[in-house]
Amino acid sequence: MEKKWWQTSVGYQIYPRSFYDSNNDGVGDLRGIIQKLDYLDDLGVNLLWICPFYKSPMDDNGYDVSDYYSVDPLFGTFEDAKELITQAKAKGIRVILDLVMNQTSDEHPWFVESRQSKDNPKRDFYIWQDPKFNELGERIPPNNWASFFGGSCWNFDEHTNQYYMKIFSNKMPDLNWENEEMRKAMYEMTRFWLELGVDGFRIDAIAHLAKDLSFEDSTMELNDDGVAPDWKKYSNRPRLFDYLAEFHDEVLSKYDIVTVGEVGGGADVDDAKNYAAYSTKGFNMVFNFDHCWYNGAWDDFGRTQGKLEVDVVGLKKRMNHWIEGSLPHMWMPHYWLNHDHPRVMSQYGDPEHFHRESGSMLGMILLALPGTPFIYNGEEIGMTNVDYEDVNDFRDVWVKNFMEEAVKRHPYEQIMNHLRRTSRDNARTPMQWNSEPHGGFTQGVPHQKSVSNYPTINVASQQQDPMSIFGRYKAMIHLRKDSEYTQTLVYGSFEMLEPLDPQLYAYKRVGDKNLVLIANFSQEKKDISHMNLSGKVVINNYDTYSNVLLPYQAVLIEL
Ligand code: NOJ
Repeated sequence: MEKKWWQTSVGYQIYPRSFYDSNNDGVGDLRGIIQKLDYLDDLGVNLLWICPFYKSPMDDNGYDVSDYYSVDPLFGTFEDAKELITQAKAKGIRVILDLVMNQTSDEHPWFVESRQSKDNPKRDFYIWQDPKFNELGERIPPNNWASFFGGSCWNFDEHTNQYYMKIFSNKMPDLNWENEEMRKAMYEMTRFWLELGVDGFRIDAIAHLAKDLSFEDSTMELNDDGVAPDWKKYSNRPRLFDYLAEFHDEVLSKYDIVTVGEVGGGADVDDAKNYAAYSTKGFNMVFNFDHCWYNGAWDDFGRTQGKLEVDVVGLKKRMNHWIEGSLPHMWMPHYWLNHDHPRVMSQYGDPEHFHRESGSMLGMILLALPGTPFIYNGEEIGMTNVDYEDVNDFRDVWVKNFMEEAVKRHPYEQIMNHLRRTSRDNARTPMQWNSEPHGGFTQGVPHQKSVSNYPTINVASQQQDPMSIFGRYKAMIHLRKDSEYTQTLVYGSFEMLEPLDPQLYAYKRVGDKNLVLIANFSQEKKDISHMNLSGKVVINNYDTYSNVLLPYQAVLIEL
């Protein structure tokens, strides 16, 4: 394996809408990120992934792009984007963009043209099919496939009497990757941003570019919406890898960049290798969702009502499965959450009783793993899920679609419990900078309500304290990026210890040094004398260390 700059980097994902609002219109913006570069530099991260800021009607907060070449006025100007890239670089911080290639907005000029007539030159940039008719003669979609955002993955267009495919919202028509002209236009667009100086991409929804072009009905059981959630009809299909190889040859291979594909649920380690193994013409890494969705963070109504118990053994098993399956075939990105998942503090930590302890423990577990870690904005101060009481405080298009059906079947309070546990909005609340109104995110009215704990959980209250969550993240980042332990933490071998212990999360990293990360993933104390761990304490999230670990204590030990 050839060594690359991005292997020793520490990533940080920014959801620009909610990071920092520099002009007080209630929406975070690029100048807001520029103003916070010193903060990011102080934390120590050096690879920013910024979620989409291209021009967009914002049906899905920017994942519905209407112009790939310009910045949406909500986020600033093209000049702001250039300045952000330049200023970040000057601090040694690289920037990667979110590349949205599975779909555009229905307001993108391509789609505006495509829908005009069946023989429009852009018709074939998207996926159009004739309607079907049921026994009653009623018009129905071309097949029974589900959309990720609820209902059918087809939307009817009156104008030409056909359906277009959209696996996300109605305003996000899927592109037809069989169309060479469209593919070339995409490659040209990616070159444009690379020439401008971005250091790579996180590639959105990449598993879905190729569809089953027979468009035959799924035989899978239909869900409550009357459609089949048969994701394999448009996920991880063999044809996709032809597109990726072409993209790799024509664009990616020509630059010294980093690429991280989002392959999401449904792809196991072997599928992931098709995208990112060292020997593959694809990406450098892929994000999987397994550990994020574990613990009922996705769509399982039954599991989102009671108290949330953490199954540490199951979590370790999932993470270990990916790590062992990946090494030595491909490099892995590690993360606890992104803008599509609930807050890790609420999912795996204990915000009520052990906020500092559990938040710093989670950071230490993440930052000593092999691969490239990505921190999600706010994670470094232990931000939590929302405490909304009113469903109208949620903003996500997914929530809106979900509500249409959920209200028919569940009591309001149960729906609210479900959303407070699973909604993507949990991760999209304003960043909590200080104890001022809206956590200092804006002096205007924020686009989404802040979590009410901002007076106590915020950057200002933690930044100077080395034992805060922020302080422990910062120390671990430094250790990983730039210390005598860097080689071991980045390139050392990995072995999970005590895999069946329901309280411990422990693993060994061996390289130049011999390290053990041991964490007590629980509210109870834990005796670890049987492990005979003696050595030098490199980092600890408590002031003391003995054979009895305190609640959520995490320690990195050099044996
Ligand atoms: C994955 C993105 O992370 C998510 O936010 C978005 O809704 C879908 N892809 C569609 O682009």
